[in-house]
Amino acid sequence: MITATEQACDGQRNDDGSVFPLLIVCEPTTATLEDAAAWAAERSDELGAKAAEHGAILFRDFPLVTDQDFDRFITAFGFPNFTYEDSLSNAVRTNRTERVFTANEAPADVNICLHHEMAQTPIYPSKLFFFCEKPAEQGGATPLCRSDVLFDRMTNEMPQFAADCAEKGLLYSHVMPAVDDAASGMGRSWQSTWKATTPQEAETRMAALGYSWEWLNDGCLKVTTPQLQAVKQLDNGRTAFFNQLIAAFHGWKDARNDPGKSITFGDGSPLDPATMDRVIEMAEEITFNVPWQAGDVALVDNYVAMHGRRTFQGTRKVLASLVAS
Ligand code: FE2
Repeated sequence: MITATEQACDGQRNDDGSVFPLLIVCEPTTATLEDAAAWAAERSDELGAKAAEHGAILFRDFPLVTDQDFDRFITAFGFPNFTYEDSLSNAVRTNRTERVFTANEAPADVNICLHHEMAQTPIYPSKLFFFCEKPAEQGGATPLCRSDVLFDRMTNEMPQFAADCAEKGLLYSHVMPAVDDAASGMGRSWQSTWKATTPQEAETRMAALGYSWEWLNDGCLKVTTPQLQAVKQLDNGRTAFFNQLIAAFHGWKDARNDPGKSITFGDGSPLDPATMDRVIEMAEEITFNVPWQAGDVALVDNYVAMHGRRTFQGTRKVLASLVAS
């Protein structure tokens, strides 16, 4: 038997009358993992709706310790799994179970900027679960930012830029290595990304999805997406800044990639760096940093809230699982 209550926490935001994130704390009991799974299974529709309303839910003090416990808990929600293999994610990842994998394994000193998961591709998950197996010794919070709140503020402060985003959409370019490069936050090889063993197989998949491409002399592959949306209409009538603009503009940096060349409006016109700096600043102003404790689970609605990763020291083990739409 689980008893869980909604509670307030330090730094919790309240924009437009809705707390962010919603914190649900399990009372100290002798409750078992199976109790927690039954609790989630009974309320999965309600919890999914609350994640959409609030942007994210943080579950604290539930009886979860291992990756297997996390898998059991989230499987109980009954949400459809979104597999890494089927995704066009840029990151290198390692699966722990069929639905649980390590979060982006980029080095500790790499700041992963705010983004909507896989919004730089035509195939993206509807929700994400995170699980803290081991918090970092220092830092390592997961920043969460509500994109509907951000887009409201952009519309007020920079109406032309907001309108351009909505009307023109975005094109993303990036260079994929010939072999996985775990030292980069975007080091997934083109073979893995396109599930291809030959360039011809990769080209068939890219053409089907509307990508354009260029093979580079060193075996790397430069790709440009079809025109993708920069905003998304939510079911509640609000508009979210649904994209990877911030991450691509300031974060897509490695041995192969220059952030200054990775993104344009959908008509090929450039983004103004000063405006982007202000967007990033506004996003930081409304960001909540998840102060991970071992056993915490976060459920993030990927249409409503962006996430990232702060730099850290020590060993940090945060696992993730994605939900298909
Ligand atoms: Fe991510």
